[in-house]
Amino acid sequence: MRLSTILARANTEYYSEDAPQISDAEYDRLKKRNSEIEARFPDLKREDSPTEKVGASPTSGFAKVAHEIPMLSLGNAFEDEDVVEFDGRIRKYLGLTPDADLLFTAEPKIDGLSLSLRYENGLLVQAATRGDGAIGENVTANARTLQTIPQQLEAAPELIEVRGEVYMSHEDFDALNARQNERGGKPFANPRNAAAGSLRQLDAEITRARPLKFFAYAWGALSEPLGETQFEAIKKMENMGFQTNPLTELCVSVSDMIDHYRKIEAQRATLGYDIDGVVYKVNDLALQERLGFRSTTPRWAIAHKFPAELAWTTLEDITIQVGRTGALSPVARLKPVTVGGVVVSSATLHNEDYIKGLDSKGNEIRDGKDIRIGDWVQVYRAGDVIPKIADVDLSKRPETSVSFIFPTVCPECGSDAIREEGDAVRRCMGGLICPAQAVEKLKHFVSRAAFDIDGLGAKQVEQFYTDGWIAEPADIFTLQARYGSGVQQLKNREGWGDKSASKLFQAIEEKRNIPLARLIFALGIRHVGEAASNLIALHYGTWQAFVTAMESARDGAGPAWDDLIGVDGVGQVMAQSLIKTFAQEAERASIDRLVAELSIQDATRPDTQGSPVDGKTVVFTGTLEKMTRAEAKARAERLGAKVSGSVSAKTDILVAGPGAGSKAKKAAELGIEILDEDAWLDLIAGA
Ligand code: IVH
Repeated sequence: MRLSTILARANTEYYSEDAPQISDAEYDRLKKRNSEIEARFPDLKREDSPTEKVGASPTSGFAKVAHEIPMLSLGNAFEDEDVVEFDGRIRKYLGLTPDADLLFTAEPKIDGLSLSLRYENGLLVQAATRGDGAIGENVTANARTLQTIPQQLEAAPELIEVRGEVYMSHEDFDALNARQNERGGKPFANPRNAAAGSLRQLDAEITRARPLKFFAYAWGALSEPLGETQFEAIKKMENMGFQTNPLTELCVSVSDMIDHYRKIEAQRATLGYDIDGVVYKVNDLALQERLGFRSTTPRWAIAHKFPAELAWTTLEDITIQVGRTGALSPVARLKPVTVGGVVVSSATLHNEDYIKGLDSKGNEIRDGKDIRIGDWVQVYRAGDVIPKIADVDLSKRPETSVSFIFPTVCPECGSDAIREEGDAVRRCMGGLICPAQAVEKLKHFVSRAAFDIDGLGAKQVEQFYTDGWIAEPADIFTLQARYGSGVQQLKNREGWGDKSASKLFQAIEEKRNIPLARLIFALGIRHVGEAASNLIALHYGTWQAFVTAMESARDGAGPAWDDLIGVDGVGQVMAQSLIKTFAQEAERASIDRLVAELSIQDATRPDTQGSPVDGKTVVFTGTLEKMTRAEAKARAERLGAKVSGSVSAKTDILVAGPGAGSKAKKAAELGIEILDEDAWLDLIAGA
C-alpha cells in the first residue's frame, strides 16, 4: 500500500472512527516520512496529500449550516407565453391593472452552484452551500480562497448575507481538464460539475488551486434594507466589492424582458461561462415583500430557460421500471451520447402513449411517429432534467423493426398492470406484495428529504429487503432488536463491522424523533410531494389531527373534506390520494406499525408567536379592496392563521368585504367576530 493511502486511512481511523489502529508514534513517523518524500519529489505530491490535513473531515463531509433565511429555487418559464403569464399572475396577485407600471430586472441565470456568504461588521464569517435550501454545508475555508469573494466589505451593514453563484469560466475549465488529463485524473463533465467538485473539497488548498469565480445576485439575512429596488441592491453589493453580472438590466414591460432574453441568448456562446437562461425579478422590493413565496419559490421571480440541447443516437432497448406507486415507467436505453457536455445513456419515455406518439389527451406528438427499439432518436436535456426523446428519424428505421408492445403484467411481480381511465400510466396492482414497489417505497422513505438516515441509502435498503430483513418502513426501527445481537448480526455481514453497525443503529435511533412534515412526505403517498407535505403538516399541526382529518374526510364531502382541499396547494386529486391511503386497510396497518415506533414532532410555524392571529381560523368573504384574496390568504397564513373556505363553529374571525352573503349571516348566527377589511388590516398591522 502507498504511504499516502496508509496515512489517509490512519487519519480516518483516528479522527472519524475514533479507532486508531496504529500508535501515535508510528503515525508521526509515517507522516514525517511522507513529508520528506514530498519535499524531495514535489511532483509526487498528491492533491489530497495527508500532510496538508488537520484531522480528517467529519464522516458526512462538511459541518451543516442552517440557513437563517432559506435558499430557494426559481420557477421556470420555457416559452415567451410563460413570461406573459408570470407578469399576469403578479398583477393579479397585487391587484394591478395590465397597464400599471411594473418594473423587472433581467439578468443571466448562471449555471454554477449557489453560495451564501455571511458578513458580520463587514467581515466574512461563514460561507454555506445551498444544500436542501434549509440546511447547507459549511464551506467557509474554501470560499475564502476565491479572489472574487471579499474577506472584508466596504461600507457594509452590521449583518449581511450575500448570495450568488460560484462558477468556472470556459477557459479555466478547459485548462483544468487538460491538467486532469495529464495527471491521469478523470476529467469533469462540464464547468458546473467542476465548480461544484472544486468548492466542495475537504481540503481548502485544492479549492485554492481551482479557478472559481463568484457573481452576487441576491441576499439572505440583513440588518438593514439594501435599498428600495432590486437594481439598487445589486449596485450596493457591487459597491461593497462584489462582482455582479454586467448584463443585468431594468425592463419596463414583458416585451422588454423578452428582448433582453434574446439579446443575452445571442451572446451565450461568447460569454465565456455557462448560463442556462435569464432570471426576471420584480424590481420594487416592497412588492417583492408583498408577493412573498410559495413553498420553495418566490412569486416575484422566474427563470426563463434557454431551449434544451440536442443530440442523435441509437435506441438500443426499452426497459420497464416499477416505481413506488406501482407506475410502469418505460426507459430508453441509448448508445451513450454527449448532450450539452454530459454523457447520456438512458432517457425517460414517460408512458405507453408517449411511445406510441400520443400525448396525455390523445393528440399526436412527433407527428404521430412511434418509438421502436433500434430507432435513430433525438435526445434532449434541459438543465438538471432527466433526458428525454424528442424525435425519431424514420428514414433510418431498420426494416425489421416492430412496434413496442407495452407489458400488461408487472415485470417485477407478475401482477396485472392496469391502466385506469383518465390515467396516462399503467400501474402494477400488486401493492405491497410487489417487491419493486416495496423497495422503491423504502428508498423514498430513507431519502434525503424524508427520514434521511445516515448510512442507510438506496443500496443498503435494497440489500436488506432482498435478504428479508426489512419489508416496510416500520422494520427499520426494529432492525437493532432483531439483528443487533444473536447469531445473525448486522456487524458480521459482509461490508459491515462493529463500528458501522452501531453507527447505523444510532442513526436510526436519532430519526425516531421526526418532524411531522418529513413523516408525511416519507409515506410516499402519490401526488404528495415535499412542498405539499410541509403545508399539510403546518395546517394540521399534529399527527393525530392529520389522521383524524383523513378519516373524517373519507366520503369526499363535508367539513373535513372542505378543510383538506382548502389547504394551499392541495387539490382534489391529492386529497383523494391522501384519504385513499388512509382508507386502505393494509396500507393503514403498515403506517400504524411505523407510527408506533416514532415520536412525532408537531409542526409549528416559526415567529408567529405574538401574532394576534396565531392559531386562529380565519375566513375571507366578499370583495377585498386593498389586496387580492390570494395575498390576504398568504399573509394570514404567514402570521400563523389557518385560512378556511367555509364558516363553522371553529371559525374565529370572518373578514367580510362588500357583497358578503350567506357566510356573514352564518357567522353572525354563530357569534363569530366579523371584521371589515380595514379592521382586519389594523389587527395585523405591525405583526
Ligand atoms: S435568484 C429567491 N438569480 O438558480 C431566488 N438565481 O433555479 C434566488 N441562479 O438556486 C435566486 N443565476 O443557484 C437568482 N441571476 C440569478 C441566478 C440564480 C443562477 C441559480 C441559483 C438558484 C437557482 C434557482
